[in-house]
Amino acid sequence: MGTTVIRGGLVITAADETNADILIEGGRVTALAAHDSDVARAWAESADRVLDASGRYVIPGGVDAHTHMEMPFGGTFAVDTFETGTRAAAWGGTTTIVDFAVQTVGESLRAGLDAWHAKADGNCAVDYAFHMILSDVNEDTLKEMDGLVDEGVTSFKLFMAYPGVFYSDDGKILRAMQRAAGNGGLVMMHAENGIAIDVLVEQALAAGRTDPRYHGEVRHALLEAEATHRAIQLARVAGAPLYVVHVSATEAVAELAQARDLGLPVFGETCPQYLFLSTDNLAEPDFEGAKYVCSTPLRPKEHQAHLWRALRTNDLQVVSTDHCPFCFKGQKEMGLGDFSKIPNGLPGVENRMDLLHQAVVDGRISRRRWIEIACATPARMFGLYPRKGTIAPGADADIVIYDPDATQVMSAETHHMNVDYSAYEGRTVTGRVQTVLSRGEVVIDDRTYTGRAGHGRFVARETCRYLG
Ligand code: URP
Ligand code: ZN
Ligand code: ZN
Ligand code: ZN
Repeated sequence: MGTTVIRGGLVITAADETNADILIEGGRVTALAAHDSDVARAWAESADRVLDASGRYVIPGGVDAHTHMEMPFGGTFAVDTFETGTRAAAWGGTTTIVDFAVQTVGESLRAGLDAWHAKADGNCAVDYAFHMILSDVNEDTLKEMDGLVDEGVTSFKLFMAYPGVFYSDDGKILRAMQRAAGNGGLVMMHAENGIAIDVLVEQALAAGRTDPRYHGEVRHALLEAEATHRAIQLARVAGAPLYVVHVSATEAVAELAQARDLGLPVFGETCPQYLFLSTDNLAEPDFEGAKYVCSTPLRPKEHQAHLWRALRTNDLQVVSTDHCPFCFKGQKEMGLGDFSKIPNGLPGVENRMDLLHQAVVDGRISRRRWIEIACATPARMFGLYPRKGTIAPGADADIVIYDPDATQVMSAETHHMNVDYSAYEGRTVTGRVQTVLSRGEVVIDDRTYTGRAGHGRFVARETCRYLG
């Protein structure tokens, strides 16, 4: 691999916006220099490749800290493989994903992690890392957590929802948090009171309320808030930091804000679907609402303003996708006549950077905040920074040349995710990925895919480096 120069663009990181050219050698950024400076001119003359970024943004590749490729769930599998899902990620300007390896009940963490390596290794277009889902907290698996932290799997998701599948009771959660407090792991929480939700599901179905929109009603905002509150108190007792995934309800954001006001190391993520979609989508007729079934569920539109506000005030720090795609035909349809059988999850790994750029265009967040919530903070939170999430000497050359003026219409016809619908069908957004580099290799070249399965490498992560 020779040297590459990216010339003429506006380089945006979470910290700065600078008119700089970038020198890339050996897959890493080695230096930045002002446009038209003598040093930058000399780079361009001797480089093996010069990429013109005039009139474009040059941003760090996106870090999507929440994906589920090939995830077994709800009696079926998420349809993006690591190959198709990471290719779609690249198309959307995301160059690192952190996917969830699953421990099934009765199995070791090792077996679950090995199974996820077998799915991913040699198949990814961009770099990837793993969190571990703990479904069976016991003496053995608690000990195994330490070993996983040592090999770069430094975060553990627990579920207060899905009794009988992933659910852990408060005692198990407390034990896992205590272990994480000792080994530096970060506990990620699916915060919904699944025991109470299952009662409401049963009652709704018995009353004949079977349509997708009832998925949103039974998974009540207060049951998200209650679980969030409980998770925070358990983490306090354990002396562990806490990261709450897919936060959707105003009332849950309030719990996080209150904890942060006390100075607690409590963090939260939301997802584009909660910022841009609502229960209006869940109520779409002819079972179309099933396309929008995920947990936590979409909320009434009024919640969106609170999520945007929390992203501005840093009560929420990260936007990830929770990409977990199921086709409408054959998979979402498993829940015809019973919303509780609709596999939970939305596609979105390709759409996140663009949707958040639209929020920049709309004046909801600044350009630097866009990069912070989509690249830098997820990298810091999950021990990938400064290798990922920024453009600086020494960082991996995971870089996107982004056209802020191009418009595009999101559609299943044109997206690259392996799923038969788009949650954003027909939505016009301003901004589009033009060229993408992963460790210095061009994987999207002026909107042509030039990457390959197997380029992406497993990244062993450090422990959480985020203090904000
Ligand atoms: O509905 C969702 N979110 N599916 C993926 C699994 C999870 O809980 O994150
Ligand atoms: Zn591996
Ligand atoms: Zn979850
Ligand atoms: Zn998820």
